[in-house]
Amino acid sequence: MLAPEQDVPELGSDLQQMNNFTCAQDPKGLRCPIAAHIRRMNPRDTALEVMTNVKIHRIIRHGTSYGPPLPENVLEDDGKERGIFFIFLSAKAPETFEFLKKEWINSGNFLGLGAEEDPIAGAHTGKAMFTIPMKPIRRRLQDLERFTVTRGGEYGFVPGLSALRWLASSPAERATAASPTGSRISALPLRP
Ligand code: HEM
Repeated sequence: MLAPEQDVPELGSDLQQMNNFTCAQDPKGLRCPIAAHIRRMNPRDTALEVMTNVKIHRIIRHGTSYGPPLPENVLEDDGKERGIFFIFLSAKAPETFEFLKKEWINSGNFLGLGAEEDPIAGAHTGKAMFTIPMKPIRRRLQDLERFTVTRGGEYGFVPGLSALRWLASSPAERATAASPTGSRISALPLRP
């Protein structure tokens, strides 16, 4: 989005700058298609057809890959097991991961794209397509094959510090930490 025409290594090494942008300069998606994965997953200030607060659906991602990479320039699958482990952290799965999958990946309504799904992560059950706004005329990729196949998944509970303190404390400590205005869990000790 910041440098669609060429690679700018300095941009990638500046962790603040590479995330600090809006879509205001690109309302029609001529630099980054409106339907692109990165724009759907964080529309920032893109005009939406369905009212929502884009900030409450944010997740922290940290993935890794498994299996041998395909050799350079090879486009045919050799049948070996490979893929990514997609790991995310968020406060509420239904409002983040599940919302992203259902509303922003497998539907295009929120961007006025109808049934057009996310080209990378969409389920592509019907006739999937990807629209690339261009001048003088847009380009439309038709009959996209499904790129992402989910093999399995698991939700894990990662308690915050206050929950860990509560779990590690004794009933007596909890009673002492209680104040007239409510429990002061943060005052409880964290045992090693
Ligand atoms: C094979 C599957 C996927 C691939 C290859 C993929 C790839 C990518 C890439 C290359 C980026 C941009 C990297 C960056 O700018 O940091 C990205 C961003 C992102 N992806 Fe995915 N992704 C996949 C699936 C998913 C799924 C299933 C979700 C959520 C349900 C997701 C959520 C996001 C989010 C939230 C962003 C950040 C957008 C932003 O803040 O600008 N991705 N993904």
